[in-house]
Amino acid sequence: MAVLISAGPRIQLIAGLLLTTIPLWLLAWHFRVRNPLFVSHQIPIHNAWTVNRETFIQEWMENQIGNPPNRSALALLCRRPNIKWRPDVVMDLDDANGGIGNVRGNIFDFLGLAILTGSSIMLPSFQARSAADLSALWNGKIPFNTFFDTDHFVATFAAACPKMDIYMPSKDHSLVPPLQNRYGMPSMRLDQHPETLDTPTPNTPKGVVENFNHWLSVQPDYDAKKTSLVSVGRTLWEGLDTRALPAAVRRDFGGSLRLIPEVRRLAAVVTYNLALKYHLHSIDPGLSYYPSAFLGAHLRTESDAEAAGWLDDERAAAHANFTGQTDAYLSQAVEHDLSVIYVASGNASEISRFAEKAWHLHSFNVTSKSDLLSGSDLEALNNLTWDQQGLVDYEVLRRSSSMAGFAKSSFAFNIAITRNEFVDVNQEVLWLRPEHLKKEDVAFEDGLSKIWGRFPWQEERMLRGAWP
Ligand SMILES: *[C@@H]1O[C@H](CO)[C@@H](O)[C@H](O)[C@H]1NC(C)=O
Ligand SMILES: *[C@@H]1O[C@H](CO)[C@@H](O)[C@H](O)[C@H]1NC(C)=O
Ligand SMILES: *[C@@H]1O[C@H](CO)[C@@H](O)[C@H](O)[C@H]1NC(C)=O
Ligand SMILES: *[C@@H]1O[C@H](CO)[C@@H](O)[C@H](O)[C@H]1NC(C)=O
Ligand SMILES: *[C@@H]1O[C@H](CO)[C@@H](O)[C@H](O)[C@H]1NC(C)=O
Repeated sequence: MAVLISAGPRIQLIAGLLLTTIPLWLLAWHFRVRNPLFVSHQIPIHNAWTVNRETFIQEWMENQIGNPPNRSALALLCRRPNIKWRPDVVMDLDDANGGIGNVRGNIFDFLGLAILTGSSIMLPSFQARSAADLSALWNGKIPFNTFFDTDHFVATFAAACPKMDIYMPSKDHSLVPPLQNRYGMPSMRLDQHPETLDTPTPNTPKGVVENFNHWLSVQPDYDAKKTSLVSVGRTLWEGLDTRALPAAVRRDFGGSLRLIPEVRRLAAVVTYNLALKYHLHSIDPGLSYYPSAFLGAHLRTESDAEAAGWLDDERAAAHANFTGQTDAYLSQAVEHDLSVIYVASGNASEISRFAEKAWHLHSFNVTSKSDLLSGSDLEALNNLTWDQQGLVDYEVLRRSSSMAGFAKSSFAFNIAITRNEFVDVNQEVLWLRPEHLKKEDVAFEDGLSKIWGRFPWQEERMLRGAWP
């Protein structure tokens, strides 16, 4: 009897609780995806739901990756007392070419040479890629602002390296014609070219400065009393040893080449739409990367990669072709528990193939920039060249939670190197022995990015020669 008496109210109490909590739970579940009030405390509430689209885009664009620009760090490089500034010697980068990874490499090598030799520069230009044949990389010079933000670059160097004059190229510039011979810079990378008895000048920054000064002094048409324009042949990751410099200098120098605002705006819109479409609440426009939102994968299987023989490359073997790259990227998404994959690729049919595979095997969603843009934004994207469209991916991938790429591509490798700046500085010691970062079939892995396959030529140069 006593049991029955007490059981009655208890059952009512439990039933009452359930009746009131179940609708609350359902409501919470329903609004969870739309209303930040119901999102758990660990998730930043500064995201695509709490800020309006224009604010999101603006904050995203202001957040330059790597660090806030610190021009005083770059100034340290330019204020080295042993630099003898000679504004009358103007260097012009003659033949930079390729996609963003290579063009950045060419320009930074060139800038390092100009700073160390105390020269002025022509704003660097580079070769265009053909729209009809992606493998054709020599289609006439195109201006700096095809990829990079000129105002930002000029402002950075005006503040940090005021003694370096920057000339704007124009068809009828009043500058003298270039010296007859073109200067070819020896490598500055002692780690790549150990000193031997028969090398006349060592492969060090100092050796290169001596080499240039000597070269200039013996040019038949050089006149020390006049302005000289010097054509400089391109080099790739043969300039300053990035890891011999403080991190702040490295980031400042790397940050001087900021992508054009049009591209950065589209990347911000892509990210905003990605967050809304897939309910990615941890995408805060003020973050340099999003710890648990999406995998950024660079699917490098376009026609030019195929033409270059990359897809059946023996050293990259298991991760080279479509099957190999997508298997690798999916395993990385599983490992990091990321069910949304943003894929960077210049080939729509390859993106669809990947999307089908990811859904079929893991119920993962694969999306891309053209998927996520519409209306005038999509039109603006389609108005860009193939390489400029790739820059949108470059920006989005830089901020991805985990980044997956293929060793043959300097595009992916350069993004990995930039993202390595987020890794605890105490781990920097790893860089002194890059082989520690490699596995038999993985060129690079630091917890934030993984570069699948191997390409020793590029690894050796990029690990200490590419800028964040
Ligand atoms: C900028 O770089 C300088 C020189 O390395 C350093 O002393 C300073 O703390 C840096 N400032 C910031 C905000 O990182
Ligand atoms: C895109 O990929 C397809 C195979 O999916 C291939 O036939 C085509 O040539 C590729 N096009 C480009 C421009 O990469
Ligand atoms: C892709 O590469 C793997 C490993 O080299 C190979 O076994 C496979 O046959 C290749 N697939 C295609 C479609 O070429
Ligand atoms: C994810 O992909 C599946 C299969 O294509 C699709 O049905 C679903 O709508 C996608 N999810 C979102 C949020 O678009
Ligand atoms: C795309 O290019 C066309 C032709 O040059 C131009 O009329 C149009 O305004 C551009 N659209 C956008 C969104 O930039």
